[in-house]
Amino acid sequence: MATSSSNQITIILFCLLSTIIFNSSSLVMCNSMMVHCDEKDESTLLKFKHEVTDPSGVLSSWSSDEVKDCCQWRGVHCDNITHRVTELHLPCDTIQSDEILDQDNEKWHCLTGEFDMSSLFDLEFLSYLDLSNNDFKTIKYDFNSIHNNKTCNDSSNIHYLDLAYNYHLFSDYNNMLHQISHLSSLKFLDLSGIDLYKETDWLQSLTSLSSLSELHLDDCSLKDINPSLQYANLTSLKVLSLVSNDFSSILPSWLFNLSHISYIDISKTSMHGQLPQTLPKFHQSIESLYLNDNDLDGPIPDWLGQLDQLQVLALSHNSFCGPISTILENLPPLLIELRLHSNFFTGTVSDKNFHLLSKLKILGLGSESLIFDFDPKWNPPFQLHVLALEYPGLKFPSWIYTQTSLKVLYIGNSRTSFQPLGKFWKFTAQLEVLNLINNSISADMSNVLLDSKHVMMLSNNLSGSVPRVSPKVTHLDLSYNNLSDISPFLCQKMKEKGNLETLFISDNALSGEIPNCWMNWRSLFQVNLRSNNLRGEIPHSIGSLSRLIFLDLEENNLSGEIPLSLKGCKNLRYLSLGKNAFSGVIPIWISKRIKIFQLGSNQFSGNISNEICRFYSLKILDLSDNRLSGRIPICMHNMTSMISPYASMDVFMVPSYSKYSRRSIAIFKSVPQSINGINSHDIGTLTLLESLDLSNNLFSGQIPQSMSGMSFLEVLNLSCNNFEGKIPLGTQLEGFTNLSYAGNPKLCGPPLTKLCPQDEKLPNEKQKREEDDDDDSSEVLIGVNIALAKLFDHHQEAPQVNYFD
Ligand SMILES: *[C@@H]1O[C@H](CO)[C@@H](O)[C@H](O)[C@H]1NC(C)=O
Ligand SMILES: *[C@@H]1O[C@H](CO)[C@@H](O)[C@H](O)[C@H]1NC(C)=O
Ligand SMILES: *[C@@H]1O[C@H](CO)[C@@H](O)[C@H](O)[C@H]1NC(C)=O
Ligand SMILES: *[C@@H]1O[C@H](CO)[C@@H](O)[C@H](O)[C@H]1NC(C)=O
Ligand SMILES: *[C@@H]1O[C@H](CO)[C@@H](O)[C@H](O)[C@H]1NC(C)=O
Ligand SMILES: *[C@@H]1O[C@H](CO)[C@@H](O)[C@H](O)[C@H]1NC(C)=O
Ligand SMILES: *[C@@H]1O[C@H](CO)[C@@H](O)[C@H](O)[C@H]1NC(C)=O
Ligand SMILES: *[C@@H]1O[C@H](CO)[C@@H](O)[C@H](O)[C@H]1NC(C)=O
Ligand SMILES: *[C@@H]1O[C@H](CO)[C@@H](O)[C@H](O)[C@H]1NC(C)=O
Ligand SMILES: *[C@@H]1O[C@H](CO)[C@@H](O)[C@H](O)[C@H]1NC(C)=O
Ligand SMILES: *[C@@H]1O[C@H](CO)[C@@H](O)[C@H](O)[C@H]1NC(C)=O
Ligand SMILES: *[C@@H]1O[C@H](CO)[C@@H](O)[C@H](O)[C@H]1NC(C)=O
Repeated sequence: MATSSSNQITIILFCLLSTIIFNSSSLVMCNSMMVHCDEKDESTLLKFKHEVTDPSGVLSSWSSDEVKDCCQWRGVHCDNITHRVTELHLPCDTIQSDEILDQDNEKWHCLTGEFDMSSLFDLEFLSYLDLSNNDFKTIKYDFNSIHNNKTCNDSSNIHYLDLAYNYHLFSDYNNMLHQISHLSSLKFLDLSGIDLYKETDWLQSLTSLSSLSELHLDDCSLKDINPSLQYANLTSLKVLSLVSNDFSSILPSWLFNLSHISYIDISKTSMHGQLPQTLPKFHQSIESLYLNDNDLDGPIPDWLGQLDQLQVLALSHNSFCGPISTILENLPPLLIELRLHSNFFTGTVSDKNFHLLSKLKILGLGSESLIFDFDPKWNPPFQLHVLALEYPGLKFPSWIYTQTSLKVLYIGNSRTSFQPLGKFWKFTAQLEVLNLINNSISADMSNVLLDSKHVMMLSNNLSGSVPRVSPKVTHLDLSYNNLSDISPFLCQKMKEKGNLETLFISDNALSGEIPNCWMNWRSLFQVNLRSNNLRGEIPHSIGSLSRLIFLDLEENNLSGEIPLSLKGCKNLRYLSLGKNAFSGVIPIWISKRIKIFQLGSNQFSGNISNEICRFYSLKILDLSDNRLSGRIPICMHNMTSMISPYASMDVFMVPSYSKYSRRSIAIFKSVPQSINGINSHDIGTLTLLESLDLSNNLFSGQIPQSMSGMSFLEVLNLSCNNFEGKIPLGTQLEGFTNLSYAGNPKLCGPPLTKLCPQDEKLPNEKQKREEDDDDDSSEVLIGVNIALAKLFDHHQEAPQVNYFD
């Protein structure tokens, strides 16, 4: 650094002199000389640019033809005296947009490919590196390689390293953290979302980072938390976040033996056992303690009252028990956030418990046997932003109406009467999020207008027509109620353009026809009207939903042909029309992006055309229980071997806010990135048909030999058809039991007991071949299993937003 600054001083002196001696125009020249960045830094940056894949030109300004001074390049920060590169800010922004929809992959525009971290450390003065939320696949990082011999020393400047949410990042080395532990000056490290399941020794590796102050390893598939370790030498650690890892462990001793830590988040980590009885070492420093969403039990120890700095205490969704008074009488007065709901606390909560808590902004209360005893005239000392109440008793806590800053309201499992309902609905207009689950509200919604951005009212025995919504509403989930009429909602006249993206009204009593009013709702991404009594045809205005990704109309009594207009839903990925009375031919003209195509238990007829083989994303095809005939297209094996040009796409916009859950609450602490909580782990690189159900139709002919290539199928059901001949040999297909082929009297060969006439020799050889094949495919199969599990995890379970998970 010394040499550089003296160079700089020389230049400045030269410039001063030349300005004095010559005319002012030389100043311009000097300026451009001065600001030009270091040549070595420039070439290191260019090397990085050359290495990575940059599909959207994020680094287009990185070119001395475009911008002379590399300090002016996008994301590059230099020291303003030495002009050496000190910081790289290149996080990828994945805010949802139409463009993303067209591209199928929310990260299509991010940096990807591989890069060599050690070569970035050729930037001798680099102290800050943020490559978060990109889509890098490989990181090369080798302190031992000859080429990078020197980096061991140079990289010691790195203070801040953020590689989070590069979901596919794979280190050349198994022990990525061991490599990172050489960055001895590291203060901030975020590797969230990167799969570190091989890192059994992660804690040990990190203890060598004596300056480490902030560590984020959320959702890293970490397994081992070393519960028996008494002491972890993380003396500088202030922030520790390990959210969403599956430790399945008791609370580790070392955690409570950290001395200066102020923030701990181990929510959603499958922790069990009890809190220690002895006063934790961090009692004077801890400000935020998130232990929520675990399996912790036992009482809350008395030391709670000695956590003088505590501002956040989140214990919700555990099995803690004991009298709530031991907590409420012990609460530190600085509390801003207190989440106690969904536990087994007993006793009474009353207004008297809160008179000191004027700073409270987030409050969650309630257990099954907890009694709420609030004075109806109570005026709380706090103004909340977020309130969660579970089992709040019969009396509606009327102090809620004093909370004029409230933005998020969750009330669950109550038998409370919300009367007078008019007042309640009017109050909810101030909310961003209204989440009412399993309350017996039993209201007629016909004349209600909802006016919160996110409305979730599942299982409240609501009846009448689907309530109308204001343009503010983007997410409406009214599943599991008793609503009967969708027409007034769907055809409502709105002054402004509606912004609804999600409409879930499954498991209700909707009857009559779906009116032809979809053109009013062009912003919809997802529509789920499953399990109702809708009849008639799908109205052709459905085709105006060009952003639609998810459409589920299963289990109704809909009929007629699928309207051709559905072609307009160019982004459709999930179509579930099973258990209706649809007829006509299979809508093979549907979006080629379709991934889940379920038409089972209808009256479709005709055959499967070869066109099906062009569905390059298909994972589940269910045509069972129809009147289909003809043969299985020979080309179908293509669907199992084709590498999709859109390999890594998986964008159902099913909002699963889990990963960002606290961030979404943090909206109210003005953290802007929160709403972008779309979960889109990719499913894998191969697009493979995983489930094929053609059972109970009139298909005939032989099962094509080519299907023996479909070694990725998880589910195959060809039963109850008229297939004939021999089941193809030597493959996965034989791995299915006879149940996959039953009810085809003319079919023969294993796994059926009926032998084919030609099938009499050398069973041993065949068996051997079979075993070999199994070996070949086992690895892929595991991958597919995981993919399937993820698929169902994310998209098939009732997709819903829960702000208190
Ligand atoms: C360098 O720039 C930063 C940000 O513009 C400024 O805060 C700082 O004071 C500058 N330092 C010097 C020595 O000029
Ligand atoms: C690597 O660095 C060490 C000392 O830091 C030196 O002794 C050794 O020669 C270097 N190796 C190479 C291949 O440059
Ligand atoms: C390594 O870095 C230290 C300080 O960070 C410095 O004193 C030392 O000279 C450096 N060694 C080499 C070989 O660059
Ligand atoms: C903890 O780490 C510091 C710095 O890395 C070291 O000096 C100290 O000896 C370590 N203490 C223990 C008990 O390992
Ligand atoms: C905390 O760590 C110290 C070593 O620094 C150890 O002696 C002590 O037993 C530990 N306490 C607990 C409760 O594990
Ligand atoms: C619904 O709430 C009631 C109490 O009002 C409770 O007994 C029941 O277990 C809740 N149901 C579910 C599924 O949580
Ligand atoms: C549901 O609401 C209806 C009125 O629409 C009422 O008659 C019925 O008792 C309610 N059921 C429950 C379980 O609250
Ligand atoms: C659903 O609402 C209808 C009236 O629309 C009522 O007759 C019926 O009892 C309700 N069903 C339930 C389960 O509450
Ligand atoms: C379905 O609709 C048909 C008429 O389109 C009707 O005959 C039948 O009863 C309905 N089935 C159910 C279960 O409502
Ligand atoms: C489907 O039916 C058409 C016309 O009936 C026929 O030409 C075609 O070969 C059939 N395709 C298959 C795959 O059975
Ligand atoms: C699909 O299969 C057919 C034959 O069944 C073959 O001609 C064609 O090249 C295959 N296409 C791809 C993309 O593999
Ligand atoms: C195949 O489908 C038939 C009828 O649709 C069903 O009864 C059977 O259980 C299914 N078999 C398998 C293996 O899924």
